[in-house]
Amino acid sequence: MTPATTTEHTAAGTAHRRVEGRDKVTGAARYAAEIPLAGLAHGWLVGSTVARGRVRSVETAPVLAMPGVLTVLHHGNTARVTTDYVTVLGTSPDPTAAVFQHDQVQHMGWPVALVVAETPEQAREGAEALVVHYDEEPHDTAFSGDRADAYPLDSMGQPAVTDKGETEAELAASAVVVDACYTTPENHHNAMEPHAATVRWDGGRLDVIDSNQSAAWIQSELANMFSLDPQSVRVRSEHVGGAFGGKGVRAHQVAAALAARALGRPVRVAMTRRQMFALIGYRSPTAQRIRLGADADGRLRALQHDSLNQTSTVHEHVEASAGVSRVGYDAAAHRTAQRVVRLDVPTPTWMRAPGEAPGSFALESAMDELAAECGIDPIELRMRNEPERGPVSGLPFGSRRLPDCFREGARRFGWADRDPRPGVRRDGRRLLGTGTAAASFLAMAMPATAAVTAEADGTFTVRIGAADVGTGARTALTLIAAEALRTAPDRVRMRIGDSDFGPAWGAAGSMGTRSWAWAITDAVAALRERLAGGAGIPPEGVTARSDTSGSVFGLAPRERRAYGAQFAEVAVDPGTGEVRVRRLLGIFAAGRIVNPLTARSQLTGGMIWGISMALHEEAVRDPVSGGHVGADLAGYHVAAHADIPAVEADWVDDPDPEDPVGIKGVGEIGVVGVAAAVANAVWHATGVRHRHLPLRPDRVL
Ligand code: MOS
Repeated sequence: MTPATTTEHTAAGTAHRRVEGRDKVTGAARYAAEIPLAGLAHGWLVGSTVARGRVRSVETAPVLAMPGVLTVLHHGNTARVTTDYVTVLGTSPDPTAAVFQHDQVQHMGWPVALVVAETPEQAREGAEALVVHYDEEPHDTAFSGDRADAYPLDSMGQPAVTDKGETEAELAASAVVVDACYTTPENHHNAMEPHAATVRWDGGRLDVIDSNQSAAWIQSELANMFSLDPQSVRVRSEHVGGAFGGKGVRAHQVAAALAARALGRPVRVAMTRRQMFALIGYRSPTAQRIRLGADADGRLRALQHDSLNQTSTVHEHVEASAGVSRVGYDAAAHRTAQRVVRLDVPTPTWMRAPGEAPGSFALESAMDELAAECGIDPIELRMRNEPERGPVSGLPFGSRRLPDCFREGARRFGWADRDPRPGVRRDGRRLLGTGTAAASFLAMAMPATAAVTAEADGTFTVRIGAADVGTGARTALTLIAAEALRTAPDRVRMRIGDSDFGPAWGAAGSMGTRSWAWAITDAVAALRERLAGGAGIPPEGVTARSDTSGSVFGLAPRERRAYGAQFAEVAVDPGTGEVRVRRLLGIFAAGRIVNPLTARSQLTGGMIWGISMALHEEAVRDPVSGGHVGADLAGYHVAAHADIPAVEADWVDDPDPEDPVGIKGVGEIGVVGVAAAVANAVWHATGVRHRHLPLRPDRVL
């Protein structure tokens, strides 16, 4: 199809409320832990109370005698599952989800048992009463930037190390050098809806109602684990209350499937908030070193970015923070490295803007430091270092409207009036400052399949294995389908969240809506051809299907990214060290905006998370126990309403010329750069540079 044009019928490009919004606010929308099933039993996970060791014994007898308790699953009585396979992402699976397969404990909170009972209360009572004996071993959870046992690691096709030009020679020849270390703490997804799965075996077929980012991914993983044909596993996830990277295959689906098979009854397992801190992945802490060398006019000669993160002893995960420095700025020499260290901790995973969120804090803080050193405006410094091509890859960019984002943002924010001197503005006792940072995030597409049916009554049904994790994807896809079909959105039924609809990329990598929209527009094109003859539509309708594997992998190689410019104004209380963000503005170039209402909500949601990352969020691990201190929303602070000032997100026109619909993706870029913009504003307010997140009052004092 040619890029779609707006017709009289369609509403793509104009604000549209969520098509399922009424169901959600009235409670009609059912989530994974709310699906009623006859004969349902309830499982409660039991996590280890040691960070490393072996389970010596599990005292099941007293718990089995408790009211309502049906069984206690543990490594001694649980069927084996397969863990030797390749995931749909081409990686080895994280064995953490394969519960009760051996007696080893790999981190604090490691799942050691599941108590199943008639009610959730009885299961919880049993789980809390269950006595587990351990042979404890010494553990090591001490993350730091100078770990001697760190090693470089590739990530999802990205090399661990890149090296272009003569970094040391360029640094030596530089008039100005910034050499600084930055750290970011362990952060957690904390989706509003905890992980939950309701599972039954239906005549040999595994039927799973779950909260996840891709029904097809969970289907594939469970089929592998239970040695089933994928068609013998059905996963549904119609409504999902947030995911952010943490909702893949986890202990709850596997434990529920094992228990359901053992009991011959449907079983539900839902996690508690506290369990989520140990069992669903998290963003690793990072230690990053940046070295910038520049001429006196701010032009970069060298850009070095080394990043270290922790991973578990059982699975490797890279928080690819140095990636931003491979695409951000021009320099004669670039050197980047990503390393990991294995600790007795849960395996980290992707979390909203993986890599870019912590990486941009380091790089965009360092660029602000360089601007101050050179006496150049921070925006002007970035403009002087705009690359013509991918600085490391040498690839041409797709559209790169970063300068336009800065221009528009500076105009709206009132940047031209800014006094560059730090520490000279006051409002009563508070010091005021403003800061800025660039944002960018991958804008890729991945394969999906879709089916579109022209119904006999003149309406249309779309079936696609998409996931709306709260983003508004279902609504955006409805608008896309309506536009392609040249009909009104209310004549389109969008059915998503079911692995029976065929393989599709997940709600991940800011690629969900784009990848699904592509498949839907292809299927609509096929349907329009089928209908072109003008024959009537039979009672069962006319269905056309698509598979975009060929087209998305056929795209010419480019640096495909969305861009943004973040602006923050802060007030710092020098008496208490409290930082308050007063204003936050983000201007983005992120492809065609399908639904401004939900796209803005995605962008501001990311920006709010950026404030939270800058000022509040920090999971604290106790080195003695190896576990978290305060693994809940009282101990782990997230930004609340009172922390959120005027947050404004807007965009410049940026349709992706190579996407059939023009989409790039808006799910993650909102958080990128915000922490740096806030920290840069704190420097501007106080004259003190802060390189460690979060900017807690005790650090700012
Ligand atoms: Mo998202 S962190 O790409 O699942």
